[in-house]
Amino acid sequence: MRAKENYDRLKIVGLVLSLIVLGGMAVYWFGESARLAEASETFASERIERGHEVYMDQCVSCHGAEGEGGVGPALNDKKLLKNTLNAVFFSIVRSGVPNTEMPAWSVDFGGPLTDEDVKDVVAFIRAWEPTAPEIEPVVFEPDASRGALLFANTCAICHGQNGMGTADAPPINNPTRLTSLEDDWYRATIKNGRPAKGMPTWGTVLSPNQVEDIIALIDAWRNGAEVEAAFSITDLLASAVFSLQEGDVDSASLQVSRALESAEGAGAEVLRNAASQLAAGDNKGALATLSALADQWPLGDSAAGGEIFATYCSPCHGAQGEGGIGLPLNPSEFVASSRTPDLVDFILAGREGTAMAGFDGRLTEAEIADVIAFLRLWQP
Ligand code: HEC
Ligand code: HEC
Ligand code: HEC
Repeated sequence: MRAKENYDRLKIVGLVLSLIVLGGMAVYWFGESARLAEASETFASERIERGHEVYMDQCVSCHGAEGEGGVGPALNDKKLLKNTLNAVFFSIVRSGVPNTEMPAWSVDFGGPLTDEDVKDVVAFIRAWEPTAPEIEPVVFEPDASRGALLFANTCAICHGQNGMGTADAPPINNPTRLTSLEDDWYRATIKNGRPAKGMPTWGTVLSPNQVEDIIALIDAWRNGAEVEAAFSITDLLASAVFSLQEGDVDSASLQVSRALESAEGAGAEVLRNAASQLAAGDNKGALATLSALADQWPLGDSAAGGEIFATYCSPCHGAQGEGGIGLPLNPSEFVASSRTPDLVDFILAGREGTAMAGFDGRLTEAEIADVIAFLRLWQP
């Protein structure tokens, strides 16, 4: 009986002892894993901190301080971060994106970064994910007046002004027929053409967005709207100069007055001078005025241009235009000797096969005119 009692007591003591030991071990274990977690957290935050430095040295000029994008796309973009594994970022950053401004960064490809540096910068980019905003892709808005300009330049030669038809091609502005057919039918007819019947295949000539602009025009015609072609002042000036050189003063006057409808500021002032020269019969003077203006059009604002330059151009051309990845622009024989409209076209299109990618879709013509006004300040 007694023995049993003692045994029971021993059992209880044993149980209590093992609980104490177990508890001690648990305390030790928890302490250890907390220590490990803390160590790896420190490791991760040091990685991110080093990555931040790499980013500010090498990437900020093109991708922006908050990863909002600039010359390069936004990296702080919820969708991109969600859909891209670290391994993919790692390899893009190592080897760059061929034929774009995104250089290869790995020492293996002649860049400045070791694999550890690249892992650091990827960790830094990844750390944006929890707070990254959703970035809406740019949506294209079809525009009937752009469509009307395209139509005037491309289709009217056969289909007549405003689609009223000519001997060579049927009218396409008839509301009854327009209502009986759908946009998809027009889209397909314009893209495929009917080559055997004299209607060219436009799908290989016009971009999909240009076709959509024409569909917007057709939509407007269907609703009985009249659409003015969005003639650019650049085109009107070139036409007015051409008309005067051909001795066609009436056409020149018409083109100048059309240009005056949308011109503003200093440019409008010069156009008004040309108009009064024409009215006074000084055709030579008007030709000189209009030629000079045509060489400088569109007139930009150099102060606004300086800001655009700092964001979009200085990563490659240097903050003072001293050159870098891109050629020096301060001064630049090319800029000094080029007409403004040609420079606008050049900057929109870029130079194929070089890091000078076109800015079409990234900057408007007006913004490019501002940058050019700024670049002119650097020319002797
Ligand atoms: C001179 C400008 C420039 C610099 C500097 C630059 N990038 Fe880029 N980066 C670009 C461009 C442009 C693209 C888009 C390439 C393309 O058209 O696919 C790009 C693309 C990327 C992409 C792919 C994004 C996507 O949407 O697929 C990543 C990631 C990236 N860059 C990271 C970096 C990192 C990290 C650095 C610094 C180590 C860096 N870039 C420095 C211009 C640059
Ligand atoms: C070289 C002359 C030519 C040019 C330029 C041309 N077309 Fe046509 N197009 C034709 C001819 C001819 C037809 C009629 C074909 C037939 O008889 O089936 C036609 C037919 C069409 C039709 C079908 C009309 C209908 O109601 O059946 C559409 C729509 C059309 N063209 C749109 C355009 C647009 C938009 C452009 C400019 C991007 C354009 N065309 C430029 C010659 C031309
Ligand atoms: C990603 C780098 C990059 C960016 C950004 C860039 N450029 Fe360039 N640019 C170049 C390179 C490289 C060349 C030289 C191309 C060649 O080899 O012919 C160049 C050439 C030019 C030239 C012709 C110079 C000459 O003498 O032939 C002009 C003008 C120019 N860039 C203007 C601009 C403007 C304005 C911007 C900003 C809106 C801009 N660039 C942005 C890389 C860039």
